Amino acid sequence: MSDVSQAYNIADLRRLAERRLPRMIFDFIDGGAEDEVTMRANREAYERLRFAPRVLRDVVKIDMRCEVLGAESRAPIVVAPTGGVGFAWPGGDLAIARAAAAFGLPCCLSTNTTATMEAIAEAAGGRLWYQLYVLRDREFTDTLVARAAAVGCEALAVTVDLAAGGKRERDMHNRFTVPFKMSLWHLWQALIHPRWSAAIVANGGVPTFENLRGMRTIQDPSASSIAASVGREIDASLNEADLLRYREMWKGKLLVKGVERADDAERLVSLGVDGIWVSNHGGRQLDGAAATLDALPDIVAAVGGKVPVIIDSGVRRGADVLKARALGAQAVAVGRAMFYGTAAAGEPGARRALTILTDELERSMRLCGVPSIGEVGRSLLHRG
Ligand SMILES: Cc1cc2nc3c(=O)[nH]c(=O)nc-3n(C[C@H](O)[C@H](O)[C@H](O)COP(=O)(O)O)c2cc1C
Repeated sequence: MSDVSQAYNIADLRRLAERRLPRMIFDFIDGGAEDEVTMRANREAYERLRFAPRVLRDVVKIDMRCEVLGAESRAPIVVAPTGGVGFAWPGGDLAIARAAAAFGLPCCLSTNTTATMEAIAEAAGGRLWYQLYVLRDREFTDTLVARAAAVGCEALAVTVDLAAGGKRERDMHNRFTVPFKMSLWHLWQALIHPRWSAAIVANGGVPTFENLRGMRTIQDPSASSIAASVGREIDASLNEADLLRYREMWKGKLLVKGVERADDAERLVSLGVDGIWVSNHGGRQLDGAAATLDALPDIVAAVGGKVPVIIDSGVRRGADVLKARALGAQAVAVGRAMFYGTAAAGEPGARRALTILTDELERSMRLCGVPSIGEVGRSLLHRG
């Protein structure tokens, strides 16, 4: 296992993950769509923003607690849904959910987890949300919604930015496609990453997308063929009427994930959603889409405080959390940051990612002169 205590930031965890994983698995996590312009822009938007720190404020005690989607959270951080975690670390989905529960943060389970949502919910505890891809097999999709309610997920996040699979060219070059055919190069990658290979072999091979067993049109339930078919199986006809139907069906909080426009956000609020999730899928879908942090202020203004706004894509530092809060987000969600930690070292790695982010957030708050997260607003940012 990698020594994650030597990882001082998320970039360190990323390096440890890169060392441990075969190239095709690392690139699947790390990569974005096409030229990765949006993926880079997500980071640049955070790096461009600067603070205007306050001084001479008592910052001995720092309070990061805040409301996230109607309940208290230890910090304004949510674990974003990521599919295929088990490709990198067997049992990785559970590791992530347990780490989130230990930190008192909500965890959003992906449709594409490599353990069933029932198994994760039973073993992890904590605040769980469920992310839904609306599949062409609508009956099956309804069973996913019912199962998420039955295991006690408090929110359903319908992902709407996947009308087509993003063109992820690293995966194409690496032949991480469907049907997955083991090439000599893949075998070589497995051989030169023995810690990964040993863990995968010890756990009976590459896991499958367990929630999707029984979905129509899946012929071969092997992990890699399912991985690719999910993109194909997502229903591009998804529209407002469908969303209203999920609004009817789902008694808990309803979020829409993948929003980048103020007019869409406004329309969604009028359709009765409980939260807007600003996301460009970490730059994995439409390359050329705006950085989410750049899209945030207009969306926050359009929503006008009627429902909370959550943002993801590009968060790598605790200071980023503060910047997103300053622009009106209630919380940020973190995808790759958690995935890198988990890929490096399983649950201790997932915990390390959250330790890094919460420690950095606390330090940034102290250095910005804001003892409580509730005080963070636009005036904390430098105008320039
Ligand atoms: C490897 C990987 C798998 C993902 N799988 C899903 C998924 O199954 N469902 C979903 O809605 N978003 C998925 N996402 C997107 C994340 O939920 C989130 O929007 C994105 O990771 C945020 O950007 P960040 O990685 O820079 O934090 C995935 C992202 C990654 C990196």
